[in-house]
Amino acid sequence: MQTLPAVTAPASSHRTQARTTTKVAASGLVGDERHASAESAILIHGDCRTELKKLASASVDAVISDPIYPEVNRAYGRISEADWHLLMHDVVRECRRVLKPTGSAVFILQPNFDRMGKMRLWLWDFLLWAGREWNLVQDAYWWAFTTAPTCAVRREYGLMRQSVKTCIWLGSPDCYRSQNKVLWTPSDAHAAHNRSNRALKIGPSGNRMRNDAITKSSDERGGTTPFNLLPAPTGSGTTSGHPAATPYPVASWWCRYILPASGVLLDPFAGGGTMLAAGLNEGASKVIGIEKEAAYLEIAARWIEQKANKGLRCGRCEAQGQDGSCESASFQESTNPRHPQRGSAP
Ligand SMILES: C[S@@+](CC[C@H](N)C(=O)[O-])C[C@H]1O[C@@H](n2cnc3c(N)ncnc32)[C@H](O)[C@@H]1O
Repeated sequence: MQTLPAVTAPASSHRTQARTTTKVAASGLVGDERHASAESAILIHGDCRTELKKLASASVDAVISDPIYPEVNRAYGRISEADWHLLMHDVVRECRRVLKPTGSAVFILQPNFDRMGKMRLWLWDFLLWAGREWNLVQDAYWWAFTTAPTCAVRREYGLMRQSVKTCIWLGSPDCYRSQNKVLWTPSDAHAAHNRSNRALKIGPSGNRMRNDAITKSSDERGGTTPFNLLPAPTGSGTTSGHPAATPYPVASWWCRYILPASGVLLDPFAGGGTMLAAGLNEGASKVIGIEKEAAYLEIAARWIEQKANKGLRCGRCEAQGQDGSCESASFQESTNPRHPQRGSAP
């Protein structure tokens, strides 16, 4: 495998608004057709409110982004709820403009508390606004099942562990998506079990079903419909070093689902470049990242150079080699077509 050419990272002048564009050439790819059309990553240093306006209309196939959240102290700053809504309204409108008519946008958001027992409502305010302004294609969630207990779950508060993040998916009702790329495949053993179970079952609610009917319909579709709750561990071992990096399995799942082959992916809050690397690995012809902190763009440039176009398909493949033989359980297994499915699918 040829290595990627050296990346010229942007000048590390933190908090400057100057526009620095870095192209990460991605020639010399592995001999995998999915990667053959990947050409470049464009990293833009600046505020996405300004930089999005410079992108051509109808030039992008998918926006997948994990934006800054309001009222959270982060190394990259804290933003009030009011300012966050102003920012995101601009971002949503601009993303809609730059997307092709078949394109869609996913914003991954995590709710937070005002104080224990009193949630902030910004996420749902945004969801309602964006859904009415544009269109909510479907409600979808990422379940970070490895989330550690926080202080909210102390007995004195008695609350539940917060482990579900909302993936706000906006686009036209018939926007591009490929269920084939994210179908769950039942294990042979599970399918055989279901086939052998043809008895009519009547549940406590009176619902009547036959397992073989479920199996038959999933066989006809070539797999089992995925849930709108994506199980993915946090800290999957492949983070770039960005302090709030998106887990790679979440990024790659959305890329597989809504980014067409050789499409153009945009992340207006690119951080350390997880979405961009996943986009290239999933066959994007171009990925565009905007990030206001130059230091994170340097991380992104390095991360893309290391990870993109190398057949990385899941959080743990890196450790297991790139032959698709990852033995890891859970998310990767259930969503990655290159991994045998040992678990049971519904
Ligand atoms: C949650 S992080 C994104 C993490 C990224 N998905 C990754 O995996 O590395 C949000 C990022 O948005 C950036 N950001 C915040 N406000 C911005 C703005 N107005 N324009 C561009 N980037 C911004 C922050 O610096 C931060 O790196």
